[in-house]
Amino acid sequence: MKIGAPSEVFEGEARVAMTPDSALQLQKLGHECFIQTGAGQKAGFADTAYEAAGVTVLGSADELFSAVDFIVKVRPPTMDETAKLTSGQTLISFFYPAQNDALMAQAKDTGATVIAMDMVPRISRAQKMDALSSMANIAGYRAVMEAGNNFGRFFTGQVTAAGKVPPAKVLVVGAGVAGLAAIGASTSLGAITYAFDVRPEVAEQIESMGAEFVYLDFEEAQTDGAATGGYAAPSSPEFREAQLKKFRELAPDVDIVITTALIPGRDAPILWTKDMVELMKRGSVVVDLAAERGGNCELTVKDEKVVSDNGVTIIGYTDFPSRMAQQSSSLYSTNIRHMMHDLTPGKDGVINHNMEDDVIRGATVVHANEITFPPPPPKVKAIAAQKPKEKAKELTPEEKKAAEVAAFKSQTKTQVGLLLGGTVLLLLVGSVAPASFMAHFVVFVLACFVGFQVIWNVSHSLHTPLMAVTNAVSGIIILGSLLQIGAGSQVTGGWLVVLLSFVSILIASINIVGGFLVTRRMLAMFQKS
Ligand code: NAI
Repeated sequence: MKIGAPSEVFEGEARVAMTPDSALQLQKLGHECFIQTGAGQKAGFADTAYEAAGVTVLGSADELFSAVDFIVKVRPPTMDETAKLTSGQTLISFFYPAQNDALMAQAKDTGATVIAMDMVPRISRAQKMDALSSMANIAGYRAVMEAGNNFGRFFTGQVTAAGKVPPAKVLVVGAGVAGLAAIGASTSLGAITYAFDVRPEVAEQIESMGAEFVYLDFEEAQTDGAATGGYAAPSSPEFREAQLKKFRELAPDVDIVITTALIPGRDAPILWTKDMVELMKRGSVVVDLAAERGGNCELTVKDEKVVSDNGVTIIGYTDFPSRMAQQSSSLYSTNIRHMMHDLTPGKDGVINHNMEDDVIRGATVVHANEITFPPPPPKVKAIAAQKPKEKAKELTPEEKKAAEVAAFKSQTKTQVGLLLGGTVLLLLVGSVAPASFMAHFVVFVLACFVGFQVIWNVSHSLHTPLMAVTNAVSGIIILGSLLQIGAGSQVTGGWLVVLLSFVSILIASINIVGGFLVTRRMLAMFQKS
């Protein structure tokens, strides 16, 4: 098949749907690649780079649309572009079918097939094609960079000769893909980062990235993303009130707020209200990633940067991925390449548009002169992390004491039982065994008991428990062997005892010294150079 990428016509769009690298991969699937001249220029890919990758460069969009079977694009097509589609052709691009009825109807009339990259279901198998996540990841990262660019202080705290600098405090609202990327960028820059989400299962992810999850004092059975395709469901008005109350408490303290809260197909909920902006310090920054759908901040102006009366900068850009066009083109073209991989199962350039496949069916919005949107829910459950385990209940001092007494009692019972059992066993053995054997046997049993107690009570605050225990064992071996060397050297024919003791001391010493060397090496791996 022939696959071609035209230049993006949307004002300011710098991304391109095919890169020289992705073209090489597409060719391995048996396809021929085409590009409109200059299409990759703004993303840093020159025509010559495409030519070097075996891509045919065509002069105009018209030429490209009529030359290829597959058109790959970033932004949804305009009406003019859709009119260029012909029966049998396939368009792959972002399409937002729920908001583009007219465009969908127009595409249906052309007889072409449309695959919407924004409709790829969020299931594990489709992660490699999840272009929304690829772009949201970039947007989250870029939001932090943009915030830093407009914030007059460091992210990280510093103590310098000129004075102490406190770290910036960042609040991320909505910890989906964009939110988690923002948390990652913010914590790695050294800011104290807080994050909130209505889905409780993300708390663990947030905390594992070094941020603090903002818990609400509110009991509501929160939504499990798995039931709603990996997305949140709307929360109750009471929950929202509790959420806003918490944000009002945080507003005077935080320096940067990055909002990403959105439920697909709905307008963005207003979560950062005008009065919260007024509570913020002069010089603070709000980056509203949900600006496209109205914004999470009440003062956001879509595609603009505004400054409130109290000096808070509010950024409502909707083109963050395009501002990092090289990176986003690489990721997006890879998502498309994976989609083509699934459409070309034989890797022979022959397309199999399998409408039984969850991912292909989910993303296809127009096919065989039919509108196939909305798709049926995927047969496989969406990706959602496990709900965090219930936190262990904090015990009161009385409860702690009672628990300790109970543990002591049960331990004593076991020990008394063992002692009685041991005594009975000794008596039984003593009734048949000779006296000389019994003397050695009693010493042996006592040595086992004392050795066990010594070894298991070793504190392992400096090393791993295993190393602490093996060191204790080695220590006892060395002590025993030293005593044996002394005793063996005084009896005739004791050379074997001396030899064995020497070997024991050698091996035990190797174990101890080797253990310390390995521990040092392991510690060095975690030390900053
Ligand atoms: P996502 O669906 O993965 O994440 C949204 C998160 O918001 C979810 O974790 C959800 O649980 C949470 N959420 C929903 N309602 C909430 C509420 N009331 N309070 C707190 N959290 C709530 O979406 P993704 O992919 O991370 O995208 C996030 C936003 O970034 C979207 O609005 C998307 O359109 C936008 N975006 C913006 C770009 C730009 O250039 N401005 C580029 C790419 C994405």
